[in-house]
Amino acid sequence: MKIFVTRQIPDQGIKMLKNKKYQLQIYPKDQIIPRAELLKSVKGVDALLSLLTDKIDEKLFQAAGPQLKVVANYAVGFDNINLEAAKKRKVLITNTPAPEVTETVAEHTFALIISLAHHIPEADRFAKAGKYKGWNPNLLLGADIYNKTLGIVGMGRIGFALAQRAVKGFKMKVIYHDIKPNPDFEKEYSSKLVDLPTLLKQSDFISLHVPLLPTTRHLMSHQQFKLMKPTAYLINTSRGPVVDEKALLVALKKKQIAGAGLDVFECEPLIDCDIHDSLALKNFDNVILTPHIASASLETRQAMSRLAAENIIAALEGKTPPNLAK
Ligand code: GLV
Ligand code: GLV
Repeated sequence: MKIFVTRQIPDQGIKMLKNKKYQLQIYPKDQIIPRAELLKSVKGVDALLSLLTDKIDEKLFQAAGPQLKVVANYAVGFDNINLEAAKKRKVLITNTPAPEVTETVAEHTFALIISLAHHIPEADRFAKAGKYKGWNPNLLLGADIYNKTLGIVGMGRIGFALAQRAVKGFKMKVIYHDIKPNPDFEKEYSSKLVDLPTLLKQSDFISLHVPLLPTTRHLMSHQQFKLMKPTAYLINTSRGPVVDEKALLVALKKKQIAGAGLDVFECEPLIDCDIHDSLALKNFDNVILTPHIASASLETRQAMSRLAAENIIAALEGKTPPNLAK
């Protein structure tokens, strides 16, 4: 059995695949594999371990050939994959929703919330630049988190883990919006589903935890930013295009919102879609940017590696993989 891995990943899953004596090829360069090389490398493989940066579509399935059984995406999200095309060709698609990912992404999201409220990156830059000249009652005044309202858009596993931290650890109130109610959450937190406009109007921090779908693309745009409080922050650790970045920039420039914490970007890997805009995201002190690392702990990336391998092994042994993407 031949397997192609599109980039070096933490080793535990790779070891599992090697133990099975599969023929394993890993793209050797430390970069996103160029499309042409990807199409060439998948020819004749039985399984593909892909990343969220690889486009998996009909053209790729054609290039691979009819023996391809499974594409194991090394990510929770799978908006890079054409599920319809995979279904037609009977190629199984899997993802890596390890419990560890849920916790790590919730932690990173909370780190962004605290960093925004307490101006951590700005304070760090200030201190390191030698600007601290003595204690000052008005220096870098931030906002509190306790007693504030966190609005969670998308109450899935990660939304739930974030709510636990917010309520149990930081004395916040949580409200949520989703396409369907989450009864477990409502029971545990005596919370009720609210519509998106209500959530936007009432929240002090708004955090997005939805998959990227046609219905969630630009979920946050001009109209939505107008509903936010001028003291409220937006946090996005889901997928970049869920936020209309042009609209976000307008809201920041007009001070319609207090700031943003972003781990994902609409024109990724570009941080700013328009790199020539001198008032683009990277120039705002009240915007914190992290380069798509919300799940980037060693433990979690190893767990994802093991899960991707389990999915491949199951598929190649004719069993149902544990994490079919649907
Ligand atoms: C990362 O963005 C993931 O989907 O796992
Ligand atoms: C601050 O350092 C204080 O003692 O209040």
